[in-house]
Amino acid sequence: MEDVKILISKALESRKNAYAPYSGYKVGAALMTSAGKIYGGFNIECAAYSVCNCAERTALFRAVYEGHNYFKAIAIVGGNEAEEDVLSSFAPPCGMCRQALREFCDPKEFKVILAKSAEDFKVFTLEDLLPQSFGPDNLN
Ligand code: THU
Repeated sequence: MEDVKILISKALESRKNAYAPYSGYKVGAALMTSAGKIYGGFNIECAAYSVCNCAERTALFRAVYEGHNYFKAIAIVGGNEAEEDVLSSFAPPCGMCRQALREFCDPKEFKVILAKSAEDFKVFTLEDLLPQSFGPDNLN
């Protein structure tokens, strides 16, 4: 439970720097490695719209770049840029982010925390959100 609050707070903090001038929808994420280190991320949009990167994959790729390749949880927060620390709705991860996270976790263990605030959140496993997934084992 303590980790959940810490992750949500880091996701909210990360969201502050989101670069979302086109959608106006800012997302923050905080990803925890198996050793307990936390990487924040936010969405980064481009004038060439299809090039935008989601908050979850920003956090994931930062962590993988630094040598981490196994994770236990991610917190995600998102909403219109006018909203700050209390958001009006949950921001579930897109399909591409679900699959990217799948590469680096056990789907039955990995927790996806969707939050509106540090007090208002729900917790899923990655398997809940991406059942019958394709992963590294399928290539063995
Ligand atoms: N977005 C994320 O950052 N994560 C998701 O999982 C879904 C969508 C971003 C992408 C884009 O910058 C904005 O939200 C609106 O789609």
